[in-house]
Amino acid sequence: MKLKSKPLKILIFTIFKKAGCNKAEAERIAEYLTKASLVGHDSHGVIRTPRYVDMIKDNHIVTNVKPKIIMESNNFSIVDGSDGFGQTVGPFACKLGIKKAKKYGNSIIGIKNSGHLGRIGDFSEMAAEKGIISVHFVNSIAGLLVAPYGSWERRFSTNPFSAGVPIKNKKPFILDFATSLVAEGKAYVAHQGGKSIPKNALINDKGNDTNDTSVIYGTKDPNAKSSRGGTGAFQPFGLHKGSGLSFLCELLAGAITGSGMGRDNKSQPFRNGMFSIYLNPSKYVKGKEYDQEIKRYIKFFKSAEPNKGIDQVLMPGEKEIYNEKDRLKNGIPMTKITWDAIKDTAISLKIDSKLINKCL
Ligand SMILES: NC(=O)c1ccc[n+]([C@@H]2O[C@H](COP(=O)([O-])OP(=O)(O)OC[C@H]3O[C@@H](n4cnc5c(N)ncnc54)[C@H](O)[C@@H]3O)[C@@H](O)[C@H]2O)c1
Repeated sequence: MKLKSKPLKILIFTIFKKAGCNKAEAERIAEYLTKASLVGHDSHGVIRTPRYVDMIKDNHIVTNVKPKIIMESNNFSIVDGSDGFGQTVGPFACKLGIKKAKKYGNSIIGIKNSGHLGRIGDFSEMAAEKGIISVHFVNSIAGLLVAPYGSWERRFSTNPFSAGVPIKNKKPFILDFATSLVAEGKAYVAHQGGKSIPKNALINDKGNDTNDTSVIYGTKDPNAKSSRGGTGAFQPFGLHKGSGLSFLCELLAGAITGSGMGRDNKSQPFRNGMFSIYLNPSKYVKGKEYDQEIKRYIKFFKSAEPNKGIDQVLMPGEKEIYNEKDRLKNGIPMTKITWDAIKDTAISLKIDSKLINKCL
């Protein structure tokens, strides 16, 4: 099935408003979740709605927090997210990083105690829109999912990495991925009957490659709520290289920010830490030469002959632009299970069925 993005965004806004978020927070959550679905990252899109609402009900997340700056110098800050929504904490920290980089040329912002930060590329895009380069490392203290290279036992979260570089008169370079071979949400989509994941995306407790998602959720039930029940793990992307990058995310986003590194504590609610570097290129490079060199290289890069079955070589961030164009026009694809779960959440909050049906 396909859903219309505009009424879907209104429905998601209404759900979070009814669930206890103020207007501005409900708008932000609806904006970020719908955007992730539009650009093709269904794993971090509206599929998250029922889980987020359950977190509010279970007191695993605090609504309407005001993030606090708990440590600060000219170009460095640590932001305490106070267990609030990542869609509130993330943009607050990102705006601070942009402001400081504009003034001082560079800045470093750490986030601790944040709820799920969602699609990290949102922050790379936010900075790039203001002419700022950014690099983001993320970890989680309570999302053990990924085995380090050489094991099947979980030691990391899916620890995403993202970077954005503005490009004059063009869409920015946006690299944004989980350090697991697939993001958890992609396995969840597969678990619910959506697109299947690669055969080596997971590893079972015998150390064998698999794409059987029950090794993560501990059950074949498509409505499984927790990824903590299984005995297997996700595999890192790129063997030892992805595993090493994930460890770096733990060090920067977990240790430096004070958010904490991965641990085996099943009662700890999910929290993200994020370590971000912001750079203002206009303070470091000669504009004309820099812009021309990037323009020349993009032309060279894009001229690489595509392999059989591939239309064109894509720059990081390009696929999302094509997805968004297509989904704005033709709708957001979704499995019935995912839609039913969103609908049930809306119904449980006594939302008018007309608002729900408008999405179809
Ligand atoms: N908050 C969290 O804790 C958390 C954890 C894990 C992942 N995430 C988010 O999940 C999302 C999905 O991550 P993922 O690992 O599934 O991403 P992915 O594997 O789809 O990779 C996406 C990146 O690869 C680029 N890309 C995709 N196809 C391409 C192609 N054909 N040619 C060139 N480049 C291409 C994209 O532009 C993008 O930069 C990300 O937005 C990430 O930030 C968040």
